[in-house]
Amino acid sequence: MPVTTVIFDAYGTLFDVAAAARIAAGEPGREEFAQKWPQIAADWRAKQLQYTWLRAVSNTHCDFWQVTQDGLDYALEAAGLANDELRARLLALYWQLSAFPEVPAMLTDLKQSGLNTGILSNGSPDMLAGAVKSAGVGDMLDAVLSVESLGVFKPHASVYALVDQHFGTTPAQVLFVSSNGWDASFAARHGFQTVWANRSNEPMDRLPGQPQHIMPDLANIPKLAAQL
Ligand code: LAC
Repeated sequence: MPVTTVIFDAYGTLFDVAAAARIAAGEPGREEFAQKWPQIAADWRAKQLQYTWLRAVSNTHCDFWQVTQDGLDYALEAAGLANDELRARLLALYWQLSAFPEVPAMLTDLKQSGLNTGILSNGSPDMLAGAVKSAGVGDMLDAVLSVESLGVFKPHASVYALVDQHFGTTPAQVLFVSSNGWDASFAARHGFQTVWANRSNEPMDRLPGQPQHIMPDLANIPKLAAQL
């Protein structure tokens, strides 16, 4: 069945989540952070995601902004760098993430081909609005869908069904793209045609679903969508 709709995960897929720590590391007066930022950025992301999963299975939902702050607090303390000014700067930068370089042209191509485009993300609606605006991709997206309308994080099965409800599509008409291997697995299990954008050359997650396509970035998504 031809694809009519291409849906993207947000953080790490369209938006460069490491950019906040990378930019702060280049600012004057942050020598110790500049030494430690790659580990802090990795811990921040890992804890942010772990907290989403733990809150989903324990039925203790909060929004993505809360787990983003909680993950950062953990990462800064683990690095011995807990300080209010650095924390505030990193959180402010998280609202202004840039898109990966190939994203604007790729989304423009999809729209010119007449496909529906959208985001399906754990992000809260206001966080996603900030990122979409700062990346300048709002005109290229037909929908920005947040888990907040359900009150449970990915990979809860109800989250992937939001796409079908919004666009009136069957899962097979949707190409879902995520750089998070676990997200791609559960999207594939839902029945979407799925791309894992394996930006960091990681092994495949051992989970129930298997993405049918693996790419190093998003540049060839329009070509793939046209072939499906
Ligand atoms: C999101 C996270 C998983 O945008 O990257 O949903």
